[in-house]
Amino acid sequence: MNAPLPDLSHLWMPFTANRQFKNQPRLLASAKGMHYTSVDGRQILDGTAGLWCVNAGHCREEIVQAIATQAGEMDYAPGFQLGHPLAFEAATAVASLMPEGMDRIFFTNSGSESVDTALKIALAYHRARGEGQRTRLIGRERGYHGVGFGGISVGGISPNRKTFSGALLPAVDHLPHTHNLEQNAFSKGQPAWGEQLADDLERIVALHDASTIAAVIVEPMAGSTGVLIPPKGYLERLRAITAKYGILLIFDEVITGYGRLGAATASEFFGVTPDLIAMAKGISNAAVPAGAVAVKRDVHDAVINGAQAGIEFFHGYTYSAHPLAAAAILATLDIYKREQLFKRARELSPTFEAAAHALKDVPNVIDIRSLGLVAGIELSPRDGAPGARAAEAFQKCFDNGLMVRYTGDTLAVSPPLIIEASQITELFQTIRNVLTEIA
Ligand SMILES: Cc1ncc(COP(=O)(O)O)c(C=O)c1O
Repeated sequence: MNAPLPDLSHLWMPFTANRQFKNQPRLLASAKGMHYTSVDGRQILDGTAGLWCVNAGHCREEIVQAIATQAGEMDYAPGFQLGHPLAFEAATAVASLMPEGMDRIFFTNSGSESVDTALKIALAYHRARGEGQRTRLIGRERGYHGVGFGGISVGGISPNRKTFSGALLPAVDHLPHTHNLEQNAFSKGQPAWGEQLADDLERIVALHDASTIAAVIVEPMAGSTGVLIPPKGYLERLRAITAKYGILLIFDEVITGYGRLGAATASEFFGVTPDLIAMAKGISNAAVPAGAVAVKRDVHDAVINGAQAGIEFFHGYTYSAHPLAAAAILATLDIYKREQLFKRARELSPTFEAAAHALKDVPNVIDIRSLGLVAGIELSPRDGAPGARAAEAFQKCFDNGLMVRYTGDTLAVSPPLIIEASQITELFQTIRNVLTEIA
């Protein structure tokens, strides 16, 4: 029986085709483990961990309890010039999962805030060292770094930028993206072609001079744009070039952090250590909004020790290390550790990859990319209607009890790390059925 719908008119929905949605709403009522239940009582397999964030599965008892207990004990504590023990404990727990030496943690509430915080730390670092002229930031085409003005400036997704084009940060440049179907279609793991694309950074350095450049920011694996896996050697080369010129390297690990690739971070997975890591999503299993920036100790120390007495870094949020977020982070990281979910993701990834690549023969599939527990399935666009085929597949998957995401004509799947092998089969079988049906 269908529950009565609420009044849909007042809510302006984010990143949503509001008019379409309100004509054909998709409303979720509850969630447990690998499934959502829709308001009309249907079970929906979560193929996307919500929005790439519920890595330990839904409504985990330990996280629910930790949040409830904390809400009753101390709902809020100011984070400016005051603290509370859980904030420090959460920072220690986050630091323990970061690459060696990246053990200074600044808390935020979202990926967008983490990105803007990381960019600001980069500027503060150079200024503290007497290189305040290093203000240029380098992003990458097709990059997604959230929706703050910093994030959309370094980001490379055109619809997210064009409305605000006159108000973007002034000193920004972009590397080319790494997607190339001619060279890399249906690659398994990291594509063989494309390492040399990192050399474009040399061109940008030659153009602007290294002395004006503060930082390069990239997603080690670009998620929101449609799952672009870095070519072999590419991240290593970016690291080498940034190090050569004293430019900080920021990895935006809002998606890749906390197990998506089968390691705590993509930095660990690829063996490339940046100077800052922006995180959110899986840090709290999305049970309370939370984010963080992990910072190399020398970057942190330069800012802290380079300042006059008093506040060293004029930045922070009312809700940085909110007690409920800190409680959720600690409970989440405990589950990841106890259940060894990153290792589980790593062990499941060959099964996942094989199931994803088995869709190669399905009509209109022009590329399949996967790594860890994330896959992108790119479809050929319909004539004159780019994105329409993937949008229809998304809706049909939902009607058939599966949640996927789509960007342009790429379907993306990124299930919770607790997924069972049989659910991997179900997930890709549903996609196969849907794509065959809508061909
Ligand atoms: C790589 C990356 N950075 C930043 C963000 C923004 O995060 P939020 O939506 O929490 O602000 C996202 C969100 O998907 C992301 O994928």
